[in-house]
Amino acid sequence: MRELTYYVAVSLDGFIAGPEGQFDAFPVEGDHMQAITERFPDTVPTDYASSAGIDQSGGRFDTVLMGWNTYAVGLAVGVASPYRHLEQIVFTRTHLDEAPGGDEHPLVTGADPVEVVRELKQREGRGIWLCGGGRLATALAGEIDRLVLKRNPVLLGAGIPLFEPGTYDPRHFDVVSTTAFESGVVLGEYVRR
Ligand SMILES: NC(=O)c1ccc[n+]([C@@H]2O[C@H](COP(=O)([O-])OP(=O)(O)OC[C@H]3O[C@@H](n4cnc5c(N)ncnc54)[C@H](OP(=O)(O)O)[C@@H]3O)[C@@H](O)[C@H]2O)c1
Repeated sequence: MRELTYYVAVSLDGFIAGPEGQFDAFPVEGDHMQAITERFPDTVPTDYASSAGIDQSGGRFDTVLMGWNTYAVGLAVGVASPYRHLEQIVFTRTHLDEAPGGDEHPLVTGADPVEVVRELKQREGRGIWLCGGGRLATALAGEIDRLVLKRNPVLLGAGIPLFEPGTYDPRHFDVVSTTAFESGVVLGEYVRR
């Protein structure tokens, strides 16, 4: 069955962005950059990949899921179809009127993400990438099969959490691989036990 993978960059204290969505504290230079791009070419925005000559044909995903707040970051600067090499699905119940529409843009839906993911998992295909953010990840926590965390060597102090606080409910994962880069970034992959 297709897996749902939450692949995301995170600080040492568990934030995926600052309180205002800042991500400039995460290092974008260093030995982790090329290595991670080679391992996950399909998580690079389509336009950047074409300009940088990155081959996205061999990636592990064919679908990406975004919460509205994640999608809105690009939309605000005119990027309405960031990962158009993938099937893109954006979840919102309150911004449906702002969806750009058209086949070249993501499907923007008010459907229940859990139901959508369960239906996607029944289809043939490659993996499903849960891009974020933390609110959508929280809604989909029970469906996450795999975590790929790019842990950045920084404490943010506050921000948007990897998952929003919930009720105590330990879910165990086994480590698949850990790669420590000289930049201080540690790429950890975990599969649900
Ligand atoms: N570090 C990284 O790799 C990374 C990756 C992705 C995102 N980010 C950052 O994360 C931030 C956004 O994260 P976020 O947690 O604030 O928001 P988010 O998860 O991107 O989006 C939240 C919105 O998604 C919709 N949504 C969530 N759960 C839903 C459900 N059960 N049913 C229907 N719609 C649902 C809701 O929209 P409505 O309220 O309209 O219903 C909700 O307000 C951005 O700053 C982004 O840059 C970082």
